[in-house]
Amino acid sequence: MLKLRTLQELKDWRAGLDPTTSVGFVPTMGALHQGHASLLRTSVQECQVSIASIFVNPLQFNEGSDFKRYPRTEDEDCQLLAEFGMDAVYLPTREDIYPDGYECRVRPGPGGELYEGYHRPGHFEGMMTVVLKLFQRVQPHRAYFGEKDAQQLWLVKRMAQDLDLNLLVCGCETVREKDGLALSSRNAFLTAQQRSESVIVYQALCATRELFRSGVHELPRLNQMLTQTLQKYEQTEIEYAEVIDDRTFRPAEVGNPGPWRALVAVRMGETRLIDNMLLGTA
Ligand code: PAF
Repeated sequence: MLKLRTLQELKDWRAGLDPTTSVGFVPTMGALHQGHASLLRTSVQECQVSIASIFVNPLQFNEGSDFKRYPRTEDEDCQLLAEFGMDAVYLPTREDIYPDGYECRVRPGPGGELYEGYHRPGHFEGMMTVVLKLFQRVQPHRAYFGEKDAQQLWLVKRMAQDLDLNLLVCGCETVREKDGLALSSRNAFLTAQQRSESVIVYQALCATRELFRSGVHELPRLNQMLTQTLQKYEQTEIEYAEVIDDRTFRPAEVGNPGPWRALVAVRMGETRLIDNMLLGTA
């Protein structure tokens, strides 16, 4: 697997590909786990050539401490990428992406204002800025994102459509631990007690989906199920827990069949967990 460290190396690699070759791209911030594996596997299956990037993007961290403690595991990451059959990895430096004098930003529309957008000011602006830059540099035909970060996926799809980007943004299913906890590099920060209590997030989503599937489409009841289940443990602090309209990423509304999605973010001590589950069409 090729390791491309500069924009020039990336450009040379890209220019050397036959124009008819389909290129799959998996942007990451490293600390790769089995959740990323599903993105890598799909890219390798669907595209003739696959490239990943590893860049811990300072612009999308609204808390400096979170940026500092974000795990950096380049060697293990590259080994995993090679094992999955990736052809190349782009490992830019901060100066390569944001050279001196850099100041432009991509601002999300209203679909990026609630939920993660509200609780992590500036996060989506930073995320969309780096994703657009990476798209411009890699010029992929397909790009792969996890459904766990549902609002991120929604915004990147929106950006691709609104800014006429000539690529397909593909969502890959959330990978879970046996007890349902969605895989995330931040799970490593949970204490043993928080880890055992974290299962409540998945249970809340499943209970809400069950209620929905049993024919209950009243939003107050669905939202109550989500919130009440999450309140089982005292130390779980709910940031948001709401049924949303998956087409608009705004709160679901009576008379608007969706599809609807249950969306959750909680804090367990220093660690934030986010997760979501598609409920269906109301
Ligand atoms: O999901 C992530 O890891 C990041 O937000 C991404 C898409 C790599 C952009 O930095």
